[in-house]
Amino acid sequence: MELRLRGKCALITGAAQGIGQAVALAFAREGVNVALNDVRADRLDETAARCAAEGVRVAFCAGDVARAADVECFVTQAEEQLGGLDVMVCNAGISERVMLADMSESSWERMIDVNLKGVFLCARAGAVRMARSGGGAIVNLSSIWAKVATSQVAHYAAAKAGVRSLTGSFAYEFGPHNVRVNAVAPGRIATEMVHKVAPEVNETIHRQIPLNDGAFGEPVDVANAVVFLASSAARYITGETLDVNGGWFMD
Ligand SMILES: NC(=O)c1ccc[n+]([C@@H]2O[C@H](COP(=O)([O-])OP(=O)(O)OC[C@H]3O[C@@H](n4cnc5c(N)ncnc54)[C@H](O)[C@@H]3O)[C@@H](O)[C@H]2O)c1
Repeated sequence: MELRLRGKCALITGAAQGIGQAVALAFAREGVNVALNDVRADRLDETAARCAAEGVRVAFCAGDVARAADVECFVTQAEEQLGGLDVMVCNAGISERVMLADMSESSWERMIDVNLKGVFLCARAGAVRMARSGGGAIVNLSSIWAKVATSQVAHYAAAKAGVRSLTGSFAYEFGPHNVRVNAVAPGRIATEMVHKVAPEVNETIHRQIPLNDGAFGEPVDVANAVVFLASSAARYITGETLDVNGGWFMD
């Protein structure tokens, strides 16, 4: 299978740790130049050093994905510093566990701002540029909770269901411009986001995962799916949301 990614340029949001860091590294290993975004710019050094060690160009793109001015600024920076933009991965996200009855308006707004509006702003900025330059690929991070109802994450789940829907809308409108737009929906992946969750919650989930004795996925498992969707091996795939969940949920 030919990926044809060498020499391309990719911007990854939320690249300081977890899945975003694994995605940046996976691209760097395929010879892709990477622009690294995170709201915690001071924590991008490790990802940058590991990517640079693979011999690719690395650009720093600090900023908050929920702020339109920041997004315009760092997407422009990425394009200028790397000399193009072929791939965008809208990965930055936040989570919080709270029952609906106790969910404040500000909590709801922050979750939708970062996890849904952030994807809209970044994907739009990327897609418009890619359309101008002949095409590209965007991969958004959705979640298993976009498809399965559960408690304590209503705002997060609504945002991630929105990302799934938005992925289709972008795919439809930008398909004629040769921009493919897909999403990945991880189940439980061993990152800081999941380590914050109470052990009893994670224990219940382990029992529902058929693969690998119920083990959670690793960030690289999601990164591999992202690299595939961004590559020319997926050239006829758009508007798709790919589950990466060890069989925890199948539709
Ligand atoms: N870990 C999982 O099990 C899991 C499951 C489903 C979906 N996801 C999704 O995958 C993505 C990555 O998750 P993760 O587990 O690596 O999380 P993480 O918390 O380990 O990393 C998220 C990164 O995003 C950055 N970030 C947060 N808000 C930002 C903002 N406003 N602007 C720019 N950067 C920001 C953080 O600083 C951090 O570096 C998220 O969108 C998450 O919702 C994760």
